[in-house]
Parts: sequence; C-alpha cells; structure tokens
Amino acid sequence: MASPAPRRFPDGFLWGAATSAYQVEGAVATGGRGESIWDRFAHTEGAVDGGGTGDVACDHYRRWRSDVDLMASLGLNAYRFSIAWPRLFPSGAGPVNPAGLAHYDRLIDALLARGIEPVVTLYHWDLPQALQETGGWRDRDTAARFAGYARECFAAYGDRVRTWVTINEPWIIGVLGHQLGIHAPGERDLGGSVRAMHHLLLAHGLAVQALRAGGGDGRAGVAYSLFPHEPASDSAADLAATEGSDGYVNRWFLDPVLRGEYPADMWRRYESALGHPLDWVRDGDLETIAAGADFIGVNYYTTRVMRAAPDRPPFGWEVVPVPDGTPVTDAGWAIVPSALTGLLLRLHRDYPRVPLLITENGGVFDDAPADPRRVGFLRDHLVAVHEAIAAGAPVAGYFHWSLMDNFEWAMGYAPRFGLVHVDYETQARTVKDSGRYYADLIRTGAVR
Ligand code: FCB
Repeated sequence: MASPAPRRFPDGFLWGAATSAYQVEGAVATGGRGESIWDRFAHTEGAVDGGGTGDVACDHYRRWRSDVDLMASLGLNAYRFSIAWPRLFPSGAGPVNPAGLAHYDRLIDALLARGIEPVVTLYHWDLPQALQETGGWRDRDTAARFAGYARECFAAYGDRVRTWVTINEPWIIGVLGHQLGIHAPGERDLGGSVRAMHHLLLAHGLAVQALRAGGGDGRAGVAYSLFPHEPASDSAADLAATEGSDGYVNRWFLDPVLRGEYPADMWRRYESALGHPLDWVRDGDLETIAAGADFIGVNYYTTRVMRAAPDRPPFGWEVVPVPDGTPVTDAGWAIVPSALTGLLLRLHRDYPRVPLLITENGGVFDDAPADPRRVGFLRDHLVAVHEAIAAGAPVAGYFHWSLMDNFEWAMGYAPRFGLVHVDYETQARTVKDSGRYYADLIRTGAVR
C-alpha cells in the first residue's frame, strides 16, 4: 500500500513538549523555595497512589542543562514549562527571592540559545502554602497576589518570553482540588470550588491587563482542560445532560473570557445546587475577565460521553464508563483523535478569531523504550490537528504532554506520559521511540 501523502504544517508552527514545575523539578527545599499546597497535600497520608511526592521528581531543577540539550536533540522549537510561584515568593508575599528568579532566567536563556521558544505557565497548581492559609483560591485576594507575581515575571522575563499561559486548567483545580478533594488543597465543597474558579478567572484577567499595561509584545492565554461531549443516546434527557455538562466543563471558562459572560444555564444550575446566589462575582469582574486572551491553550486528552442520572448530585447527570473494546490508554482514557478535530473546529466556530495552541495532549503508555502505542497516538492526534487546520482552525502549535515521565499528581509515578523515559532510581533519561518519531516529524514539518 502506498504511504499517505505528507500533511504539511504551517511555517512557524510551534513543535513542543510540556512539563510543569511540581511534576518535574524536585529540589523542593533548594534555592529558598517555599512550601506549596502540593508539597503539603502529597505528604498527606493516602493522598497520592504509592505515596509519591514531588520532593525529587525528575530532578529537573538541577538537570535542566542536560534536559535542554535533550530537547534540542529532539529538534523541539518550543518548551512549555511552569514557574513555581513559591520559588519566587516563598511565603506568598514580600520581596521576590533572587535565587528563584535567577533559576528561570538561566533556563530561559539556555532555551533561547538553542532556538527553543519558552512558553511559560505562571500557575500550574503549586500555590504557595502561605496563601492557602489565608483562604487560597477561595479568597479573592489570591487573584490580586497572582497579578503581583505575574507582574514580577513579566518584568523579569518579558524581554525574552513572548508567550505566557496564565492559569492551567481552572476546571480541574476547581473540581479535583476543591469539589472532590482528589488534588491539593484537598477540599470538598461545591460552593468553594465555584468561588475558587471565579477567582482563577479573575487572576487570569488581571494578569492579561498587567501584561498589556507593560506595553511589550508578549501574548497571554489560558490553558483549559477541554472535553468534547457526546450523548449516550438521542433521548432528550441524555441530550440535556450532555449540553449541561458541556456548560460545567467547557463553556463556564470559555464564555467569560471570550464573551464576557458566564453561561446562563450553568449559572442557574449552580445557584439551584448551592441554594444561594453566586455573590462572590462582583460588579466589574466580568469586564476584567473579558480582557480576553491572545490565544486559548487547549489541553485535550479524551471525551466525555454523558447520560442523564436524575438522582445523581449535584446536577443529575453522569459520565458513561468507557465501553469494552474502545481503544484506551493505560490510564483507561478513551483514545479519540477525531474528537480533537471537532473540538478545534467548534472553538473556531463559537469563538472566532482566537488563535489556538494545543498546550497538552498525550497518553499513559507504560511501554519503553519501544512505545508503538504512543507513536500511534501522536500520529493520529497530529493528523487530527492537521485536519482542523486544513478546515480553517487557527492552530499555532502543539505541545506533547509530556517531555518526560514525571509525577502524575494523585496517581503518583506509575503512569508514564513521556516521550522520554525517566528511571527514577538513577534519573537516567532514555528517548523512547515516540521521541524519535516526533523528532523526525518535526524535521520534516509534516505528518504521514
Ligand atoms: C493535565 C495536567 C498535567 C498532566 C496531564 C496528564 O490535567 O495539566 O499537569 O498531569 O493532565
């Protein structure tokens, strides 16, 4: 059979891989770093599978030089990483910690020297514990603190960093961190989670305003965990459950930033589930949030198939378990590349003109160094991205999650997402077949 014609990506396309500070850095007590909510949470008995913590992780804080060499050897032209807020502000407030500042300064310079564009996330879940003590994201003041921290980063790195991601996945922070208690800070309170998510959006808006006020040419976006939704059947109840859950997961974040309003259907649902108004939303907040975004970061892993479940709190719907026989990753997440095309086209249709960056996409496959399933995953998702671009979606780049195996939050170290295998005993890095496949693809700028 003849091999398919190459599908070429646009010039200037960002070919990257992503990590986040707590998942890879380790060195949690080095360089004056303060405690984060993830340090506290991971050290709580039973919080993380296998008892893992980010204390050592991939030791990227010390090994960043050789890790940058590794990225260069793969031909990446972009690297998405996050700054650990508690390295810059160990106790949440006070003067900036020069050692923390210097670390990312060197990393950014080293990346640029190798022709790798730094794409910098400001908040990937590691809130300074000191700010949790004063209420964390449930407290409105945390948004103002975030803006102060963001301003410091823009001032220090804005001469070299062009692309900023303010907040990573406000829905996951709200749901897993504040509603279900599975992530830091481990709270279980629906109202607290809606409140926290509002302050996260406010924090985004304040940071965008600060970046623009600085007058540089940087661009700022926000990364969402977007889940394409499908109904389990054509019944009116399942269709309503699907539309409702789309409001809960996707529109609740897209609409305020890109349209200046919360979706009315979901607003009503929250008010009725909570039994009181969402009175932490103040006059003027939506104007701040609607400062908008220079791009939307799309984190795509899998879909949600929904059905009505009238007795199920808080909203009367549930996710249908993945049916036997569906291709899944080793985390059990259904592999549905075509849904990524649909998602990108939907964003392009419903929120026109906003550039899109795939800020995360990947899967757990435990095989290494030969990992044919990740090679297939990568290929099929890039074909899906290409299809969306061909149909007009303004996709500017793709970041695979993850550069290397790392600390996967509450799931600990067992799930491996990397293009590069990490031996946690020796910290040896071994490029997997998928890493080599990605390098070849980047070299040709096309997927077959
Ligand atoms: C996303 C997170 C990222 C990583 C992947 C698997 O929700 O942003 O840190 O854990 O999932």
